[in-house]
Amino acid sequence: MPKNSRYAIANWKMNPPTLSEAAGIYTKLRTKAAKLRKTHTVVCPPFLYVPSILKLKGGEHISVGAQTGRPEDAGSMTGEVSLSMLSHAGVSSVILGHSERRKMGETDEYISKQIDRALTLGLTPIVCVGEKIHDAEGKFLHELTAQMKATFAKVPNKQASKLIIAYEPVWAIGTGTPMPAQTIYEMTIFVKKVVSDLFGHDQGARIPVLYGGSVNAKNIEEIMKVGKCDGVLVGKESLNPISFAAIMEAVDTI
Ligand code: PGA
Repeated sequence: MPKNSRYAIANWKMNPPTLSEAAGIYTKLRTKAAKLRKTHTVVCPPFLYVPSILKLKGGEHISVGAQTGRPEDAGSMTGEVSLSMLSHAGVSSVILGHSERRKMGETDEYISKQIDRALTLGLTPIVCVGEKIHDAEGKFLHELTAQMKATFAKVPNKQASKLIIAYEPVWAIGTGTPMPAQTIYEMTIFVKKVVSDLFGHDQGARIPVLYGGSVNAKNIEEIMKVGKCDGVLVGKESLNPISFAAIMEAVDTI
């Protein structure tokens, strides 16, 4: 996946219901992505659609990612798909540590193994981090720092710039109400500070930090203008090609 200054990531989760709908959305986003200057768009469909969406190609401005993947290459794991299989299929990035996966039992330690394997395979890890509760006393800052330390435990300093971080406060996902843009700005700086402490300033400064959680075509302008993040990871609104095209445009131009 090319290194860009901005990213618009579509996390389709377990949607849309049919492959033909998925192909229709991808084709529209592909047309939009080709018109952007500094933004790379990543579409992460359900596993079953990945090979068909990959065949639709799209040039250097758009690529296909996965939503998770096992760190083991093969084995007796009913229902699972390995990162290695995804890489061989032509996927170029993978969302790891999404809060919905953490809720299903994925731990920081497991996610650190996934990141390690993804980096070895040359897949770009799009790593989700974020607090469950944003308490007034600021305890969440400790929770977030500890989560990041454990999640990135296996990443050597030299490889750190290959990561993309999606800061997603769990309480803002799927609610329709994003974190206030000024707080996104403060949290983006905080996340950048934590990675600079972990990997050194030079490497840390090269890691894009995106925001995720109830981003839509109406709030994206303020999120980019005031939040000053390097892009967004979008769930629900990424299934609406008109909304997501507007989001992509704002990520590219603001
Ligand atoms: P949302 O999802 O945009 O629907 O809030 C974001 C995410 O889960 O990554």
